[in-house]
Amino acid sequence: MIQVLDKHFRKLFSESEIQERITKMAAEIKADLGDKSPLFIAVLNGAFIFAADLMRAMDFPCEITFVKQSSYQGMDSSGKITQLIGLDRDIKDRHVVIIEDIVDSGLTMYHLRDQLLQQNPASLRIACCTFKPDALKCPLKLDYVGFEVSNLFLVGYGLDYDGYGRQYKDIYVLAE
Ligand code: IMP
Ligand code: MG
Repeated sequence: MIQVLDKHFRKLFSESEIQERITKMAAEIKADLGDKSPLFIAVLNGAFIFAADLMRAMDFPCEITFVKQSSYQGMDSSGKITQLIGLDRDIKDRHVVIIEDIVDSGLTMYHLRDQLLQQNPASLRIACCTFKPDALKCPLKLDYVGFEVSNLFLVGYGLDYDGYGRQYKDIYVLAE
């Protein structure tokens, strides 16, 4: 058990389970894009740890850049859409993979995907560490998923509760 602010969380996925899953996701990505010099676009803040591990599992030419697109406050998805900031690369004709920490309602990803597609990438795929299928509120195809989880609140491995708890090497779930 760990405590983050006023809440207790118990371990759900261990560091070794996460790393094992990342090795498999990297192999899937390599099979699809290993000869295409893909550009990874990691969504800050949450995806920074997952993106670092996923990128280091790639043994082929690839690039990474970071964007920000946040629609989440505290423990409820607000559904509020904010602007994409920080994209410093021309993605036209590039094979792009968005890297996200978690897809909950999917609204953040849906909107980001839409904005990136307007810039005519050669292809656009989505890799997320965790996915809550029961919370999904829009049609979204996820190409590489680390772990499917039920509709519960997670922290650790980049995921936060009001800004805290990102630094844990394992993924934790809110303990009732
Ligand atoms: P969505 O737009 O509802 O899919 O929300 C996506 C964003 O909400 C993620 O990028 C996270 O920042 C945040 N989020 C959603 N679920 C959780 C959770 O269980 N723990 C921590 N952050 C979460
Ligand atoms: Mg996020």
